[in-house]
Amino acid sequence: MRPRVVILISGGGSNMVTLVRDMQAGGYADPVLVLANRADAGGLAKAAELGVETALIESRPYKGDREAFEAALTERLASANPDIICFAGFMRVLTEGFIRRWQGKMLNIHPSLLPLYKGLHTHQRALDDGVMVHGCSVHEVSAELDGGTILGQAVVPVLAGDTPDTLAARVLGVEHQLYPAVLRKFVTGDRTPTAIFGTDI
Ligand code: GAR
Repeated sequence: MRPRVVILISGGGSNMVTLVRDMQAGGYADPVLVLANRADAGGLAKAAELGVETALIESRPYKGDREAFEAALTERLASANPDIICFAGFMRVLTEGFIRRWQGKMLNIHPSLLPLYKGLHTHQRALDDGVMVHGCSVHEVSAELDGGTILGQAVVPVLAGDTPDTLAARVLGVEHQLYPAVLRKFVTGDRTPTAIFGTDI
């Protein structure tokens, strides 16, 4: 039986689309559900177009009660019975209880070369620091924010004149290479590192 993969999103879902297409093309896993925590997540329509079941569990009504939100999320996830949960631009911080429940099954993509720039505004912070390379990381999700075992990284140059938007777009390009490459290995139990060097390095 092919591993069942659920993808969690909050926004446009370009990483989700890349993962779904790669699973559909490669036949190595089944994308069984795309779940968003925001009604305006553009990725929901894209997932439906790709023939993947979608679900919406809005976090906003649970404001201030993270555990109640996570209880609803866990119930929906459990009914999808995932072997792997891919966080793909899912902008929620999760409690230790939730992470313990799904430990070992969760992957996340983060737009920086971890352990640099955990959290938000990663591209602005890289520009502020004057670094010459930047990129993204796929890591296992642990109780420490953006702190689990790193499984893959992709590197791009920071170019003169870059803005947070131009840098984000360059990083997103390699996110779309890195995440499927790591997932393909992860489904086989292979956690050896994946490194991708973007163009112009
Ligand atoms: C991606 O750049 C992803 O790395 C980032 O959000 C974007 C989602 O884009 N994730 C985080 O910042 C997580 N902290 P997408 O919806 O087009 O995949």
